[in-house]
Amino acid sequence: MASPMFFLLLLQSFLVSTSASSTTSLVNQTETLLKWKASLDDQSQSFLSSWVGNNPCNWVGIACDGVGSVTNISLSNFGLKGTLDNLNFLAFPNLIRFDVGNNSLHGAIPSDIVNLSKLTFLNLSSNDNFSGNIPKDIGRLSLLTALDLAWNQLNGSLPVSVGNLSNLSYLGISGNNLSGSLPQEVGMMRSLLVVHLALNSFTGPIPASIGNLSNCRDLYLFGNELSGSIPTDIGRMSSLKQLHLLVNRLNGSIPQEVGMIRYLILLDFSNNALTGMIPKAIENFSHLRHLYLYGNELSGSIPREIGMIQSLLDLQLLGNNLKGVIPTSIGNLTSLATLLLWDNELIGSIPSEIGFLNSLTNLALHDNSFSGPIPASLGNLTSLNNLRLSKNMLSGPIPTSLGNLASLNNLSLSENMLSGPIPASLGNLSSLSILSLYEDMLSGPIPASIGKLTRLTILQLRGNSLSGPIPV
Ligand SMILES: *[C@@H]1O[C@H](CO)[C@@H](O)[C@H](O)[C@H]1NC(C)=O
Ligand SMILES: *[C@@H]1O[C@H](CO)[C@@H](O)[C@H](O)[C@H]1NC(C)=O
Ligand SMILES: *[C@@H]1O[C@H](CO)[C@@H](O)[C@H](O)[C@H]1NC(C)=O
Ligand SMILES: *[C@@H]1O[C@H](CO)[C@@H](O)[C@H](O)[C@H]1NC(C)=O
Ligand SMILES: *[C@@H]1O[C@H](CO)[C@@H](O)[C@H](O)[C@H]1NC(C)=O
Ligand SMILES: *[C@@H]1O[C@H](CO)[C@@H](O)[C@H](O)[C@H]1NC(C)=O
Ligand SMILES: *[C@@H]1O[C@H](CO)[C@@H](O)[C@H](O)[C@H]1NC(C)=O
Ligand SMILES: *[C@@H]1O[C@H](CO)[C@@H](O)[C@H](O)[C@H]1NC(C)=O
Ligand SMILES: *[C@@H]1O[C@H](CO)[C@@H](O)[C@H](O)[C@H]1NC(C)=O
Ligand SMILES: *[C@@H]1O[C@H](CO)[C@@H](O)[C@H](O)[C@H]1NC(C)=O
Ligand SMILES: *[C@@H]1O[C@H](CO)[C@@H](O)[C@H](O)[C@H]1NC(C)=O
Ligand SMILES: *[C@@H]1O[C@H](CO)[C@@H](O)[C@H](O)[C@H]1NC(C)=O
Repeated sequence: MASPMFFLLLLQSFLVSTSASSTTSLVNQTETLLKWKASLDDQSQSFLSSWVGNNPCNWVGIACDGVGSVTNISLSNFGLKGTLDNLNFLAFPNLIRFDVGNNSLHGAIPSDIVNLSKLTFLNLSSNDNFSGNIPKDIGRLSLLTALDLAWNQLNGSLPVSVGNLSNLSYLGISGNNLSGSLPQEVGMMRSLLVVHLALNSFTGPIPASIGNLSNCRDLYLFGNELSGSIPTDIGRMSSLKQLHLLVNRLNGSIPQEVGMIRYLILLDFSNNALTGMIPKAIENFSHLRHLYLYGNELSGSIPREIGMIQSLLDLQLLGNNLKGVIPTSIGNLTSLATLLLWDNELIGSIPSEIGFLNSLTNLALHDNSFSGPIPASLGNLTSLNNLRLSKNMLSGPIPTSLGNLASLNNLSLSENMLSGPIPASLGNLSSLSILSLYEDMLSGPIPASIGKLTRLTILQLRGNSLSGPIPV
């Protein structure tokens, strides 16, 4: 058995060598930081005026561990101008946090950054601008929980090594110039909660492996050049609340499996090239507030099941090839504030059940083929700002009840076959700035009450059979 003295000696020599190496490393860290400071512009150096002397642990933006080794460099919003070229990351083996978000730094991300094996938080976002590639070995930073490189000018591809970032919960790459396809390894980052890959130039399909991100709450892929169909695996992203796939080149039909994402609050597939029908599985969305499918090539009719999404606030299906009638179940959507169905091929009469949607502020059904009368029940929608029914085949009179829409700003009923007189009640629409009734079949005098509409800037009455003077 070794004597206690032996252990004491061992312990002593351990302490001496540790403190010696940490002293060396502190000198090294001090010199490294001062060298970087000296490489920045004069104003940046003045922001770092506390960076003098030989104890960086007291400097602004720097924190150290118990033995004086730098663990944090936190300099977001400092207005720093320069590059990272003169910052030797190898001097900071214990660095946990490196945050220089929102500065004016530019140039490359030094490849040595991947040697910071203890790093958990890396933020280079919103600079002016980091450029070049994301280091190929970024996946070596295996303890990272947040990686934010957004709003720079990084180019090249997203390295496949990201698949090794199994602790990452926040991935921010939006607003760069990355290209190539999304690696299938994206699906290996199982801890991801928030994924920002928007506004780059990614091409190719959304990898099916994305379905493995079962903890992910927010997925932002908008503003790329992604193509192919939406993978059915997306239905496995059971924690998703926001799904932003807008402004890509996605085609094929919307998979029924999206209906498996029960807690979705926002689904935005607008401005793609999607075809086929709106899936009936939307009936499973019990928390959905925003449904944006506009600017696609969707066909078929609006499913009756839409009436099951009673949480909906905003329904935008405009600019598709939708056919058939508006289902009467729409009357169930009593929280709806925005209903935009314009520029489709919808037919039949406007269901009077729309009159139940008393939260509506914006109702636009123009550029369709609706026929029959304007339902008097629209007069119940007293929160309406916009009522645009132009370019349909609506007939019959303008309901007197529309005079109840006290908040109305824009009333456009032009290019229909509406007949009879202009109701005097429209003179009660004291907020109205646009009254567009041209190319209908209206007759009789223009009511004097129209003269009360002092906010009116556009009054279009041509192409009718109206008589008498224009009131002033
Ligand atoms: C250093 O970073 C760690 C981990 O991100 C954090 O918990 C800690 O609050 C930071 N300390 C300082 C002084 O910034
Ligand atoms: C970015 O930093 C500047 C200071 O350099 C600050 O004025 C600005 O508010 C910051 N922006 C954000 C979004 O935090
Ligand atoms: C600081 O440490 C790094 C990494 O060990 C080394 O490359 C560098 O030469 C050292 N610098 C000084 C001034 O000692
Ligand atoms: C990174 O820094 C920017 C600017 O300070 C900030 O807006 C952003 O939220 C930070 N990212 C993370 C993941 O905290
Ligand atoms: C840094 O990491 C790279 C691999 O990405 C490795 O080749 C290199 O040896 C490492 N450098 C040091 C000093 O550990
Ligand atoms: C950084 O990039 C953005 C986006 O491309 C650009 O608007 C901005 O002018 C750039 N800043 C500098 C200083 O180049
Ligand atoms: C990335 O940008 C740099 C200039 O910052 C350029 O030299 C390089 O060719 C670009 N690479 C790719 C893959 O676009
Ligand atoms: C992930 O790490 C392992 C072990 O370090 C390595 O063998 C593998 O190549 C890495 N994977 C990727 C995609 O970089
Ligand atoms: C990283 O994730 C693994 C599981 O993937 C977990 O065991 C480990 O505790 C995590 N590490 C940290 C620092 O969170
Ligand atoms: C992004 O990269 C493309 C080529 O991949 C290039 O044409 C374009 O100018 C780049 N945009 C910016 C803002 O650097
Ligand atoms: C209206 O909503 C209720 C409750 O979600 C539902 O039971 C009913 O079937 C819906 N009606 C229609 C026509 O969709
Ligand atoms: C509209 O309001 C009237 C009362 O002004 C009411 O009798 C009618 O049921 C309402 N119709 C709808 C569809 O809400």
